[in-house]
Amino acid sequence: MENVLILGARGMLGGQVRALCPKAAAWDLPEVNVLDFPALTARIDALAPAAIVNCVAFNDVDGAEDRPEAAFALNAEFPGRLARLAAGRDIPLVHYSTNYVFDGVQGEYEETDPPAPLSVYGRSKRDGEEAVLAAGGRAWVVRTAVIFGPQGASELSKRSFVDLMLDLAAKRDVIQAVEDEVNSVTYAPDLARATMDLLAGAPPPGLYHLTNSGAASWCDFAREIFRAAEKSVTVIPVPSSRFPRKAARPARAVLVNTRRPALRPWQRALAELLGRPDRLS
Ligand SMILES: NC(=O)c1ccc[n+]([C@@H]2O[C@H](COP(=O)([O-])OP(=O)(O)OC[C@H]3O[C@@H](n4cnc5c(N)ncnc54)[C@H](OP(=O)(O)O)[C@@H]3O)[C@@H](O)[C@H]2O)c1
Repeated sequence: MENVLILGARGMLGGQVRALCPKAAAWDLPEVNVLDFPALTARIDALAPAAIVNCVAFNDVDGAEDRPEAAFALNAEFPGRLARLAAGRDIPLVHYSTNYVFDGVQGEYEETDPPAPLSVYGRSKRDGEEAVLAAGGRAWVVRTAVIFGPQGASELSKRSFVDLMLDLAAKRDVIQAVEDEVNSVTYAPDLARATMDLLAGAPPPGLYHLTNSGAASWCDFAREIFRAAEKSVTVIPVPSSRFPRKAARPARAVLVNTRRPALRPWQRALAELLGRPDRLS
């Protein structure tokens, strides 16, 4: 698609959307601070984009417990303003949310299931979803989960679990990993492609669940990383209580996609990332 605007283009997902749209306008800090909304509005009006993909977020799940104002400003108020701007100019908008809007009790969640976030991050993302959908434009809110892939260009961009595990594998031959938190898992290039398909297909505005197929505990994910990367590291399953963190996480928050074509299993995507498509299980 021509003339797309990517916000948060130096992040993990934004970087992959950019890779698919080399002609896109790619904005991020420090050049563009989306919280300076009058300046952002002027820039958007000068660009007149054909679509906006908003990859900006306050993504530090534990940090959000200490900085709720910052989390809500970026994850809730800003997407609402952006969606109202886009609706007023009839610009299609893709915005992302998270499986952490669910409490994890039900385990598997379709798009219509009611959210019940456990953390400040989850509440801020849920409010962002509601604000975007309330704006009433051509807006798609894509819930996703545990994104992995090449790191974004920004130094603050979240490092993926894959990089963290490969770093550990260089130092240790036994690691502990949490077994009682299960999530969907998402390869950033696959989500970027699915985002472009969404924009091209323009299904009805609303909520969509887009992750790779399957689910994994941190323990499952770590084991598959070491297997596919041919690292002989033993993974000891431990309860999440072994690693106390500020924010509560859902025990099992698997996103069920009932509205879009399924993405491939996460293990296949991981094998591609690690450059070993021959090592699929
Ligand atoms: N990563 C996951 O596992 C995960 C899971 C579920 C949902 N999601 C959602 O998926 C989306 C993409 O996540 P991601 O992991 O790609 O995020 P990311 O790597 O943290 O990228 C976010 C980008 O937004 C930029 N940004 C932050 N504040 C900004 C501001 N005021 N103005 C302009 N840019 C700003 C960041 O710049 P700096 O780095 O310089 O701050 C960064 O480049 C988000 O909506 C997130 O909530 C992510």
